[in-house]
Amino acid sequence: MNKDVEAITAVLERYMSRVNARGLVARVLQERGLSEATLTREELVKCSPALRRGIELFVAPRMQHDALERFKEFFRSRSDSSSCRIDLKREADISAARSEARRLCENAGASAFSMQKVTTIVSELARNIVLYAQQGSIEVGFVNQSRSSQIVVTAIDNGPGIPNLDQIMGGRYQSRTGLGKGLLGTKRLADRFQITTGARGTSIVAEVVL
Ligand SMILES: Nc1ncnc2c1ncn2[C@@H]1O[C@H](COP(=O)(O)OP(=O)(O)OP(=O)(O)O)[C@@H](O)[C@H]1O
Ligand SMILES: [Mg+2]
Repeated sequence: MNKDVEAITAVLERYMSRVNARGLVARVLQERGLSEATLTREELVKCSPALRRGIELFVAPRMQHDALERFKEFFRSRSDSSSCRIDLKREADISAARSEARRLCENAGASAFSMQKVTTIVSELARNIVLYAQQGSIEVGFVNQSRSSQIVVTAIDNGPGIPNLDQIMGGRYQSRTGLGKGLLGTKRLADRFQITTGARGTSIVAEVVL
């Protein structure tokens, strides 16, 4: 068996029967038209959300937490990048930032739900930078703590700042360029959210627990 496939199957077998573990891996590969013999690391990473769903479906509730922690650890220990930084200047950089964030989440074994949150946050913050600050950067990285792991998104620019931040975060802002709900939505999606803004620019940190 392919070494990575063998290793992930071994992780799964701790929490479900051998037959189910093998069946899950085989089905996930098959659905994606992937062959075990030629499977690359990147292809395996692409399978992480589906494998994770398998754990959520087939592992007994009292063992799920443990299983998911071990599962995330498996992907983290094999991933070559635990953070990435994208410079933002133009529209196309927004989708580049989004797909980098997605890749990082897959690498971290994140759930589809957390991945959706992270990619939405990245899109909103990247779009704001390109629209209102003209340029800046977004960094996405994991933070690993003993009891949980999270993805941290840091958006930084040297634009004009956001003077009416209180009004915006209070939901009393009428945007001329959009719905005016990007920052508020981002805050709601994040488990921790912090904005520092002034005449020299804006820096935003949003964290999502995986
Ligand atoms: N990085 C930034 N630098 C300067 N101003 C910003 C920045 N991000 C947001 N703003 C200001 O804050 C306002 C609110 O941003 P927010 O993302 O909440 O809504 P929006 O971009 O107007 O609309 P949308 O709902 O489409 O995101 C913007 O209209 C803009 O004036
Ligand atoms: Mg916006």
